[in-house]
Amino acid sequence: EFEPKLRPQQLDSYIGQESVKENLKVFIQAAQQRGEALDHVLLYGPPGLGKTTLSNIIAKEMGVHIKTTSGPAIERAGDMAAVLNSLSEGDILFIDEIHRLNRMIEEILYPAMEDYVIDIMIGKGPGARSVRLDLPKFTLIGATTRIGLLTAPLRDRFGVVQRLEPYDIHSLKTIICRSADVLQVEIDEDGAEEIARRSRGTPRIANRLLKRVRDFAQVRYEGAINGEVARFALDLLEVDKMGLDLIDRKMLLMMIEKFDGKPVGLDTLAASIGEESETIEDVYEPYLLQLGYIQRTPRGRVVTGAGYAHFGLKAKEV
Ligand code: ADE
Repeated sequence: EFEPKLRPQQLDSYIGQESVKENLKVFIQAAQQRGEALDHVLLYGPPGLGKTTLSNIIAKEMGVHIKTTSGPAIERAGDMAAVLNSLSEGDILFIDEIHRLNRMIEEILYPAMEDYVIDIMIGKGPGARSVRLDLPKFTLIGATTRIGLLTAPLRDRFGVVQRLEPYDIHSLKTIICRSADVLQVEIDEDGAEEIARRSRGTPRIANRLLKRVRDFAQVRYEGAINGEVARFALDLLEVDKMGLDLIDRKMLLMMIEKFDGKPVGLDTLAASIGEESETIEDVYEPYLLQLGYIQRTPRGRVVTGAGYAHFGLKAKEV
């Protein structure tokens, strides 16, 4: 994670995601004019695009507190009840990776989201009874990389559902220049462009690469970042011209060489390169699909002609 100071604090300094911003501005203003809590918001899209950043900005813009937790962190029903019970009127509860909440805990959220109540079981066995507790009116912001894994009843309880998209080169350049300003490192157009091109549409990656390039600029050059420094540093970091890293290339070459260009199942692929299936699906595959380097077929993943061409290879005729 990059330092909080790199994260914008207001919608107006949040770059890109124009339609998401426009929509949120209206919903925020409308809720404020009515003096109500914002409706529940679900943000989804690939990792690193700014779902957490955006949630913190929403809290700032609404002028409310935000509590942050995540699906895997809430292990028991009591944890969920305690978090909900700690909220004040209008507060935001941010649940990252909300698709990883277990089903029993998810069910506590239904009445909480809909009617601002929770039902708590007191005691065990035949004497057990349920007590209904009122909650303050709050806003749940859920973030997920995998909207398809949310159950329909949970998904349907979000009044606002917004998808974040990968950033174009222009937006990434603007983010990189803003971050360079915050980090007080000089950067030129060419340097920002080079980092942007290798950031796979993702501000989190852009900021990480910027910091590493800054290190090279400081130690091996005169401190300022230009195209030459950026190319030198990024080549050493093994981030190639298209932003592919060692793992992307290992995965593609495995599919080309070991599997001979034939369709490969996700779990087989994961085992063969020693990564989690979930990491491949969330992190590696979306960008390779976006570049058109791989395709999903009913029988598995295959490398496309463009994927072969990345390595100067030609796809086999079938
Ligand atoms: N840092 C990370 N994401 C950003 C964004 N969308 N705008 C500005 N700075 C950012």
